[in-house]
Amino acid sequence: MKSSFLYFIFLGGLSIFFLQSNSGGRAAAGNADSTGSPVNNNQTCNTCHSAGNFGTTSSEIQILDNGTPVTEYTAGQTYTLQVTVTNATGNPIRYASQTVALLSDDTQAGSLSSATTTNTQISTLSNRQYLEHGGSGMNSDGIFSATWTAPAAGSGTVTFYSVGMASNGNSGTSGDNVSPSSNLQLPEAVASSVAEVEVNTIQLKSFPNPTQGVVTVELQARSSAEYNIQVVDFLGKVLENRFLEVHQGHNNIQLDLSNYPAGMYFIYANGEDQNQAIPVSKQ
Ligand code: HEC
Repeated sequence: MKSSFLYFIFLGGLSIFFLQSNSGGRAAAGNADSTGSPVNNNQTCNTCHSAGNFGTTSSEIQILDNGTPVTEYTAGQTYTLQVTVTNATGNPIRYASQTVALLSDDTQAGSLSSATTTNTQISTLSNRQYLEHGGSGMNSDGIFSATWTAPAAGSGTVTFYSVGMASNGNSGTSGDNVSPSSNLQLPEAVASSVAEVEVNTIQLKSFPNPTQGVVTVELQARSSAEYNIQVVDFLGKVLENRFLEVHQGHNNIQLDLSNYPAGMYFIYANGEDQNQAIPVSKQ
């Protein structure tokens, strides 16, 4: 690395920044978070790198579980964090990137281990781990991945911030295309400790009661289901079976008892997991 690169005049603030090598990764070089995250001090790679011929560049973040992208994480589970940097035109000599996973309080979310792609490293800066380009070689396929272990239960949504670069490999800041900062929000899967059982609560009413013949049975069902409505005499003999689809909420079912002798009857409503009966008096 040439020493002329070590000093850089930052015109905007008329300040002089001391820059260490970036070719080995921004965080590893002791520099800074340039991901576009809330802790990056308004600096991404394009603060310094620009003017390439590689077209629109992007950085896609994926959390993979055995190769399949997930949309939520399970606390403590191990995933693959994969960042894919792509560009529109030309053939960059190398790709570079930087990615961090943060909790809502901006502390590190989970942990990174074992970078699995070539020229990829995990660096630590201000107690946060970064997945970055690294090593002496060039990452030529734009894929950076490592193992990510999800944080403990109750950690909440994790946000990954990433930026990627298609570089001409000239060891300087010119001729490189930087992606916009991308992010991925990964909510925590909330395991329900109680298995939810769909209880089909019903409420039965009948009117008029006593009746001369036609009776309306009012059935309030918590969910739609098939019901067997029965007319049963006082000895328990089933006189009538009616199978019908009861819908969620209010149902009115009309039954005609005019052919039955005067006396006491029961109307049964038998659902999948719910049975109820009401007495009806026929005059
Ligand atoms: C504050 C200015 C600055 C920022 C921000 C910055 N770089 Fe650099 N970068 C440099 C300078 C200066 C060099 C050349 C000297 C060196 O290698 O350190 C360089 C060199 C590089 C190189 C080697 C260049 C090549 O053509 O091979 C890569 C790759 C690189 N940076 C990637 C990044 C990435 C990725 C980011 C954002 C995550 C980033 N840089 C952010 C200043 C910066």
